[in-house]
Amino acid sequence: MSDFKARTIYQIYPKSFHDSNGDGIGDLKGITEKLDYLQSLGIEYLWITPFFTSPQKDNGYDVADYRNIDTLFGTMKDFEELVEEAKLRGIGIMLDMVFNHTSTEHEWFQKALAGDQYYKDFYIFKDGKPGTPPTNWVSKFGGSAWEYVSAFNQYYLHLFDKTQADLNWENKNVRKELVNVLKFWMDKGVKGFRFDVVNLISKPEKYADDHEGDGRRFYTDGPKVHDYLKELCHESGLNDDGMVTVGEMSSTTIDNCIRYSNPKEKELSMCFNFHHLKVDYKDQQKWILRNCDFMALKKLLNDWQLGLQEGNGWNALFWCNHDQPRIVSRFGDDKQYHKESAKMLASMIHFLRGTPYIYQGEEIGMTNAYFEHIEQYRDVESINYFKILKKEGKKEEDIYRILQERSRDNSRTPMQWDDSPYAGFSENEPWIEVTGNYKEINVKNSAVEPDSILDYYKKLVRLRKEYKVISDGSYIPILLDHESVFSYKRTYDSQTLIVINNFYGTETEVELEGNMEGYQCILSNYESRDPINRLILKPYESLTFLKNE
Ligand code: GLC
Ligand code: CA
Repeated sequence: MSDFKARTIYQIYPKSFHDSNGDGIGDLKGITEKLDYLQSLGIEYLWITPFFTSPQKDNGYDVADYRNIDTLFGTMKDFEELVEEAKLRGIGIMLDMVFNHTSTEHEWFQKALAGDQYYKDFYIFKDGKPGTPPTNWVSKFGGSAWEYVSAFNQYYLHLFDKTQADLNWENKNVRKELVNVLKFWMDKGVKGFRFDVVNLISKPEKYADDHEGDGRRFYTDGPKVHDYLKELCHESGLNDDGMVTVGEMSSTTIDNCIRYSNPKEKELSMCFNFHHLKVDYKDQQKWILRNCDFMALKKLLNDWQLGLQEGNGWNALFWCNHDQPRIVSRFGDDKQYHKESAKMLASMIHFLRGTPYIYQGEEIGMTNAYFEHIEQYRDVESINYFKILKKEGKKEEDIYRILQERSRDNSRTPMQWDDSPYAGFSENEPWIEVTGNYKEINVKNSAVEPDSILDYYKKLVRLRKEYKVISDGSYIPILLDHESVFSYKRTYDSQTLIVINNFYGTETEVELEGNMEGYQCILSNYESRDPINRLILKPYESLTFLKNE
């Protein structure tokens, strides 16, 4: 096993990271050009979201060929160069494997459509008449999860867009093909994988209507998912080769994540779960706005920290990715307390037990896009829901408010490198608009600004490597009932860490128990403070005390 506990992983959405050839689309060479910057952050792995051949209906999560690079992003030579240059800087490349489904343009699906039974069995086709799909399951991007094919008088299953057909993991030939895909990339020197929605791969034996929900309870953490993962990792030799692996686990449970990430089970290194990012959904529904339920957030973070403990499982820690709005706009204050709240949120996550992820731009406090018109949106989910919500009779202005908070495009605007036109992302108009605040919020400014958010992230990455208590310590929640502070202790041998975060833009008081002698303040987002028991915290104040005896 590689040591992923003390390391920080950086996520790149290549389309929006850096464009090297001026076509307005980020590319692999663009990433290579920015490796020095990434090295200066101290990160040791780069997870790059899919850049394989794809019609780009879901920005690459609709893969048409797992072994080739989409010309939008460059060539295989560009990729090999990226792996090599990254290695020289102590950075391993992690690829994003979309194995729950393929694009309907994938050769396998095309052969299936042409009637080739061998490939038809690669997918999930079920009988049904036009207008009455096999089950009432709902696609995660809206509408039915089934698409009718008149030539067969059958439907195929797509849990996501109708151009993303679910693979039939029951079929051994499918599983064999996917093992070979992993081997292909491991041979190219890749150091890890992120597995897209991987807890949805095992479908139930019987396909039935869901009278309680949208169908997810039948296929989430499905009956054979653990067997499939064990087989995939064993057959590809992933675990022997010290690869880092992370599974994206949609609507999962603590018990399942313990199994997915327990080293004894030989499945994955760690799991992403999303429960803590649904605390501002109303009744689990993304498209209904609600303020963050802070006590629910605290409880979730605590439950997962306490659930995945020494010797059982391992968490992937994150606020942001290419599917989530920007955290400083979401749970912080991207205007009055931009810096303070961005830093507080960073501390809250980075000192937890698990491996932290930084999503491109998070380290400089990039904000939501604040688009005002549907024409500015590019994301298939946002565009689908714009239509769905309109059909439901919602007013346009209300829909825009929802999109401004919830659209995945909030995290997909171009990386803000400097204050030149298009933010130094490209020399020409980008595929998606740059966020309006790029002249203030950009890497160039952050590099010269004292106490920048960027600086703070660098410290977090460094501290994790310096202190075992951060990478390996156990987790103890404190101030559990406090209504605006998230606070915890970490302990490891003679090291103790106390992390205190005021989640709100108002002052609040905390009373710490125990003897504070011997502690020193190792990180804060205002002035450093003396470690005393009674503290009045400033808006969004974050303090970290360490005792190292
Ligand atoms: C995951 C990806 C998301 C994609 C979906 C379907 O949730 O992160 O971007 O749309 O899977 O592949
Ligand atoms: Ca380009």
